[in-house]
Amino acid sequence: MSDRVIIFDTTLRDGEQCPGASMNPQQKLEVARQLERLKVDVIEAGFAVSSPGDFEGVNLIARQIKGLVIASLARAVPKDIEAAGKALKPAKRRRIHTFVATSEIHMKYKLRKAEEEIVRLAVAAVKLARKYTDDVEFSAEDAARTQPEFLYRVFEAVIAAGATTVNVPDTVGWAIPAQFGELIRGIREEVLNIHKAVISVHCHNDLGLSTANSLAAVLNGARQVECTINGIGERAGNASLEEVVMAMKVRKDLFGVTHGVRTEEIYRASRLVSKLTGFLVQPNKAIVGGNAFSHESGIHQHGVLMHRKTYEIMHPKEVGYGESKLVLGKHSGRHAFVERLKGLGFVLGEKQMERAFDRFKVLADKKKEVFDDDLSALVEDEISEVPERFTLGYLHVSSGTGVIPTATIRLKTPEGKILQGAASGDGPVDACYNAIDRLIQFKGKLQDYSIQSVTSGKDALGEVTVKLAVNGRVEHGRAASTDIIEASAKAYLSAINRLLHKR
Ligand code: KIV
Ligand code: ZN
Repeated sequence: MSDRVIIFDTTLRDGEQCPGASMNPQQKLEVARQLERLKVDVIEAGFAVSSPGDFEGVNLIARQIKGLVIASLARAVPKDIEAAGKALKPAKRRRIHTFVATSEIHMKYKLRKAEEEIVRLAVAAVKLARKYTDDVEFSAEDAARTQPEFLYRVFEAVIAAGATTVNVPDTVGWAIPAQFGELIRGIREEVLNIHKAVISVHCHNDLGLSTANSLAAVLNGARQVECTINGIGERAGNASLEEVVMAMKVRKDLFGVTHGVRTEEIYRASRLVSKLTGFLVQPNKAIVGGNAFSHESGIHQHGVLMHRKTYEIMHPKEVGYGESKLVLGKHSGRHAFVERLKGLGFVLGEKQMERAFDRFKVLADKKKEVFDDDLSALVEDEISEVPERFTLGYLHVSSGTGVIPTATIRLKTPEGKILQGAASGDGPVDACYNAIDRLIQFKGKLQDYSIQSVTSGKDALGEVTVKLAVNGRVEHGRAASTDIIEASAKAYLSAINRLLHKR
């Protein structure tokens, strides 16, 4: 058995499937580029048949990302497999990932099919998928609750039909590590032709055990783990890529396996996915949370100063986290700026670079020290692929104790028209949002608002994330500024621009 674990990222399929996390094809491509830098092995780019947007996303990624395997999900029905095959056609290496449920409860109530019929569907799906590619994955949906003997039978049949990967999803997050590990061992021992396929796992986090279950599976012979950045996904999410990968790295002594992930790219991937989905990362999230590497207690701080490893099992640098370096100041020139951005992995067009540099100069004037994280926040704003319908031209707020907060706002339209107006509110942010709503007659609902500082210090950039809903559609916006009211207004406008763009 190989000791290399294949990392199959499904952020763009299972991750994107969860309510409120949807991304358009361009945003998906942005994530795919980062996944390429991260060097995952497989990107599941979407579920081609599910919508024209998903088809386009898979197809765009298949055309643009060449260094790794691109996959599309497909139910075990011909029209799904044909759509996946078509969307994946331009990919250099493509995989069709087909699935059907195998647990008693799914077969009886959802599919209303008997075991024989399920085996027949699975085999036919794999055979059809093989007409489009040699790389076919079969998933037995709800495998963790499937009778093991039936699971062995299905796997044996699909491998004989040409499946090269067999996936064991814990679809509802029901499994417990020891038992899940046993199931994988059973598959390895009981499926006669298992040596012809890779055993994969796909764990959901309903009991908070998705990482533990995935790792138990690896210990028992699974050699592909399906996971997502920040653990996003249906309901409580999927196994988190950063946790699985770092556990295997930090505890190589125990796992004895390798993987190809460039862990230094993890933090950037986490930020990007958080930015594009609007899903903030909880501060105590393992590996990528804001507190993951901070030591608050005196005893811990003292220990770390004496010897880092007393309280730190991995170096923040290993995941590209924190240790945000002082990179540039107000005297830094364009060349240094461009080089630094390249170092951070940003690829900007000439105009974007121009604007980013102007904004950097303004920031460097306000802020003595400009860190990598500041630059990332600033540039991430700049590379938004959504055309800006409205931009903020001017903002003035007055607020204080015993004063009615008021905001005066000037917006620019792409046609160069200037819209100006004022409004009051409960606070300065509310006043801004009321002024914007009035100016453009916007009737959305603010579902969520949050603010975080990008780095530390009183002059830190404040990063605001908002979620706006209109007629059942939800979009998020994010913006950073040393002035949190300005960041709030820009984040709000960014969400509005997205809503208008989609329309
Ligand atoms: O959770 C699940 O069962 C899935 C399959 C389609 C792999 O996402
Ligand atoms: Zn899933």
